[in-house]
Amino acid sequence: MDGFQAAVVTVSDRSFRGERPDGSGPVVAERLEAAGYQVAERLVVPDEQETIEAALRELADGKDIALVVTTGGTGFAPRDVTPEATEAVCRRMAPGIGEAMRAASLAITPRAMLSRATAGIRGRTLIVNLPGSPKAARENLEAVLPTLAHGLEMLRGGPADCAGTGK
Ligand code: MTE
Repeated sequence: MDGFQAAVVTVSDRSFRGERPDGSGPVVAERLEAAGYQVAERLVVPDEQETIEAALRELADGKDIALVVTTGGTGFAPRDVTPEATEAVCRRMAPGIGEAMRAASLAITPRAMLSRATAGIRGRTLIVNLPGSPKAARENLEAVLPTLAHGLEMLRGGPADCAGTGK
């Protein structure tokens, strides 16, 4: 993997207000770096749809980040709106990524079905939601991380054309 730029967006009212340390952002960033990504941005935003959307737009349009990973705000609480913000800024969705995360996670906990995490494409940027706890974020990321680079190569015109995948 040849060093796509990535950004990690922690979506949490409490972390934004400084009432709780951002546990999952560093975990996600570390894992992405270990997989060869350059983590160029790390943000903490509140559970406000407009604020989340603005952050995603800036990272995609302003900074041309290849992979934006959000953590938090995917559950059923009234202020959990990260999937809605993601859908609002993406013209093309990538539902298989959320499906793969839930399929893998259901083998770990039935509560995996409570994550509404989604993924989508804005321009040349792939946005992927993860749940908010460090454990859930790590487990969900592990399920899809090995496959994301191939998607990014297709998205950004890299060498990948599914050759060697039997397709
Ligand atoms: N997925 C995995 N792999 N492991 C977990 O512990 N927790 C679940 C789910 N997905 C979990 C998981 C729980 S309890 C919730 S409420 C949802 O993710 C949504 O989490 P969020 O509201 O923090 O985004």
